[in-house]
Amino acid sequence: MNARSTEMSATDDVIDLLLRQHAQIRDLFLLVTTSTGTERREAFDRLVRLLAVHETAEEQIVHPMSRRSLAGGDGVVLDRLHEEEMSKALLSELDRMPTDDPRFVPLLNHLRVDVLTHARAEERLEFGRLHEDLGDAERKGLAVALRAAEAIAPTHPHPGVEGAIENLLLGPALALADRLRDLIKEAMRESPSEG
Ligand SMILES: [Fe+2]
Ligand SMILES: [Fe+2]
Repeated sequence: MNARSTEMSATDDVIDLLLRQHAQIRDLFLLVTTSTGTERREAFDRLVRLLAVHETAEEQIVHPMSRRSLAGGDGVVLDRLHEEEMSKALLSELDRMPTDDPRFVPLLNHLRVDVLTHARAEERLEFGRLHEDLGDAERKGLAVALRAAEAIAPTHPHPGVEGAIENLLLGPALALADRLRDLIKEAMRESPSEG
């Protein structure tokens, strides 16, 4: 019961949830690098889905807040968006090669460094301020929206379908972004800020 309460409270706050996703992203990069064959492919698929949900949520929640409340917020956000675009391009390139291609791991390491540097910049420049600016109820409502988005992210691509990840990035990711945008608007309407 206590363990469950702790588990619940750990994901009740949108910032805790985003930080937890950063940690999951870090772990998945390690798993992709150290695994082989089908296990590597599945870990890579999970990484792509998590990155799609995570970056969409940040585009909807974190960056607009930073633009509004940080000194020089526009510049901070433009830098982060640029980093996210670069990562998306690398991710697509990785998806076009077999996971046992000799170029896969070096390219993945390149992506890992980029993504983790990007995450550290967000934590340092944006998340602290976000914590100050959002009330408890708002952070809780946004966490619900983010968990809902995770739940509707495509689970497993059909085995043997080539380019499933590319499709996720180009097609369903857009639908996911729309759905997430709606969920977040709803959450912000229903959760009056407690300051
Ligand atoms: Fe991000
Ligand atoms: Fe992030």
